[in-house]
Amino acid sequence: MKEYKRYLVTSALPYANGPVHIGHLAGVYIPSDIYVRYLRKRGRDVIWICGSDEHGVPITIKARREGVTPQDIVDKYHQIIKDSFAGLGISFDIYSRTTSPVHSRTASDFFRTLYEKGEFTEETTQQYYDEEAGIFLADRYITGTCPKCGNEGAYGDQCEKCGSTLNATDLINPRSTVSGTQPVLRETKHWYLPLDRHEAFLRGWILDEHKEWKTNVYGQCKSWLDGGLQPRAVSRDLDWGIPVPVEGAEGKVLYVWFDAPIGYISATKELTPDWEKYWKSEDTRLIHFIGKDNIVFHCIVFPAMLKAHGGYILPDNVPANEFLNLEGEKISTSRNWAVWLNEYLEDLPGKQDVLRYVLTANAPETKDNDFTWKEYQARNNNELVAVLGNFVNRALVLTGKYFDGIVPSTQELTDYDRETLAELPRLRESLENNIEQFRFREALKDAMGFARLGNKYLADTEPWKVVKSDPDRVATILNIALQITANTAIAIEPFMPFSAEKMWRMLNLEPLGWDMLGRADLLAPAHRIGKPELLFEKIEDEVIEKQLRKLEAAKAANAAANATVDAQKDAVSFDDFQKMDIRVSRIIAAEKVVKTKKLLKLTIDTGIDTRVIVSGIAEHYTPEELIGKQVLVLVNLAPRELKGIESRGMILMAADPTGKLTLIGPEGDIMNGATVG
Ligand code: MF3
Ligand code: ZN
Repeated sequence: MKEYKRYLVTSALPYANGPVHIGHLAGVYIPSDIYVRYLRKRGRDVIWICGSDEHGVPITIKARREGVTPQDIVDKYHQIIKDSFAGLGISFDIYSRTTSPVHSRTASDFFRTLYEKGEFTEETTQQYYDEEAGIFLADRYITGTCPKCGNEGAYGDQCEKCGSTLNATDLINPRSTVSGTQPVLRETKHWYLPLDRHEAFLRGWILDEHKEWKTNVYGQCKSWLDGGLQPRAVSRDLDWGIPVPVEGAEGKVLYVWFDAPIGYISATKELTPDWEKYWKSEDTRLIHFIGKDNIVFHCIVFPAMLKAHGGYILPDNVPANEFLNLEGEKISTSRNWAVWLNEYLEDLPGKQDVLRYVLTANAPETKDNDFTWKEYQARNNNELVAVLGNFVNRALVLTGKYFDGIVPSTQELTDYDRETLAELPRLRESLENNIEQFRFREALKDAMGFARLGNKYLADTEPWKVVKSDPDRVATILNIALQITANTAIAIEPFMPFSAEKMWRMLNLEPLGWDMLGRADLLAPAHRIGKPELLFEKIEDEVIEKQLRKLEAAKAANAAANATVDAQKDAVSFDDFQKMDIRVSRIIAAEKVVKTKKLLKLTIDTGIDTRVIVSGIAEHYTPEELIGKQVLVLVNLAPRELKGIESRGMILMAADPTGKLTLIGPEGDIMNGATVG
C-alpha cells in the first residue's frame, strides 16, 4: 500500500434545515470522529473538515413556510448543529458553512475555471414555473397524477406508488406544492457537466484502481457507470445560492450539489494557509465519510469536477454507510421521527459516550440497522456498566483498599498472568486493522476486549479471596489489572473520549500515546492513583419509557398535522333529526367482550331503563375508566346483535381523522334520561 504523508478527512456537510439526528451520527460523524481521533493519537498529520450545507431548495421552502428568510433558517440551524456536535465531542478541525464569503469566492472561481476550459455544455429546456410564488419548481415540488398508474400524489421525479421514474412534464394535472396552483411551462437555460465525457476515466479509476472500496460503495458506482453517465445540470433558477458567475445568468445560482463539495476546499482554506499542501499533493490521503445517498456525488460527480478543474487530488476512499432506522421505521426529518442530537444532549446530560458507544456497536456499516431505546438501555447496562465500568471500578477500588492507592510491584508471574498480558498486543493489532479498514463495530469490540480481558482476569484470580493468605500474589494481580486499565483507557479513547478522560484522571496520569498500547509497564510501581469515580450508571426503565413516549407524541402530532377533516354530509330535514332520541345516560358496568380487541360490553342507565350496549372503544378506554361516566346515547337505534350480544343503542363519540375516539358527555352531572337535541 502507498505511504501517505498526511490525511485530509471530510465528513458530509449536513443541510442546515434541521438539527442533526442519530442517523447522521451513526452513518457519518461518529465513525469519522473515531477515525480522526485514532490518527491524531498515532501522531499522524491529519485535518478534518466539515461545515453546514446552507443552500438548496428545501431551505427556501422551509423559510417560506415559516415566514422568515433562508438566511434566518441557516443561521438558526448552523448554530444548533455546531453546538450539538461539540457537545458530543465531535472534534472537527473546522466546522464552517457554505454561506461564508471564502466559500462563495472559491465555488464561483471553480465554476468559472470549468466554464473557461469549456468543461460545460449549455441547454435550454422547458421547466415548470409557479406564477404565484414567482419561482421555477424543482421536480419534488410538483405533484400530479401518475400517467402510468393513476396515483394522484405522484412527484415530478417519481411515482412512489408504482415506482416509475417520471419527468415533471409527464404528470397529468400538475400542481405546485408551494402555492397549490397549476404551474406553467417556461423556457430556461442551464449549464451542464457532461459526465459522459469522464466516463472512461471514472471506470478505470474506480472499477480498476479502487476495488478495495466497501462493497456497497463499489457496487453503487459500478451500477451508475454501467447504466451510462448523463450530463447533469449544475445551475438552478433560484434566488438562494451562489450566483452563476457568467454573462447572461441573472436569477441563476449554482446547483447545491455543485457548490457543497467545494465547501470542503473552502473550509480548508479558512483553516490553514497551507491548504494546498492538503488538496494538491499526491502525498495526501483524501477520505470522504458520507451516507449512502451521497455516493454518486462523492464518487462520480465531485471527482469529475476535480479532474476537469485539474490540480486537485481525488479521494483514496469513500467509506459510505447504509441507513439507521429508528424503532423499526425510517428516520424522517419532516415527519419528526428521529432522535435529535440537541435534544438528546439536553434530555440525557453526561451520556455522550453511551450514545457514541451504542451507535458504533450498532452502526449500519454493511446493511441498514435499527436503533431502539431498549437496545440502548441494554447495551449501557450490560456492556458499559457491567463490563467496562465494573472492571475499572474493581481494579481501582481494590488498589485503594489493599495498597492505599499505590501501584504495587509484581512478584513472580504465573502462566496465566503471562497469557493474559500476551493478549494485549494481539488486541492492539486487531483494533488497528479494523479501524484502518473502516470496520468500526469490530474495532469497538477490540477496544472493549481490553476491559473484558481485565474483567475475566479479576474474576479468575479472585484477589478478594487470596488477600488473606497471599498478599504478594494480590500485588501482582492488581498491578496487572491496573496495566490493563491503562491499556483500556488508550484503546477506548477514540470511541469514548469523555470516559477515557475520566479514566486518566482516576489513574492520575497524563493521557498516554497510542504507541504505549499493548504494553504491561504503563503504570510504575509506587505511582499513586487518583480517586475512583463511576464511569457509567445504570439506565432505569423510566428514562427509556420517557423517550418512547416522546416518539409516540411526535407521531401523533404528525398524524394530526397531516389529517384533514371529512367533508360535510348531505342535508337532512329537521323532521329526520327530530326522530333521533338522544339521552344522557350513565355507564354502570363495563367489561371486555371475549375474543375481540375493540369491543366492550357496557351496561347503561338511560333514565328510561337499564340496558346493554356493545361499543367499539376498547382500544381507547379501559373498563375501569368508564364506570360511572355520563355519556350521550342514541336510545332508539334499532337493536343489533354483536358477537352474540344484543346491543340496544349507540354511545356518541367524536372521531378525529387519525382514528382517535373520545366520549362526549354533559358538562357537569345531570339527570339520566335528560333529552339532547
Ligand atoms: N448536505 C448533503 C446531505 O446532507 C451532503 C452534502 S456533502 C457535500 O445529504 F459534499 F456536498 F458537501
Ligand atoms: Zn404511478
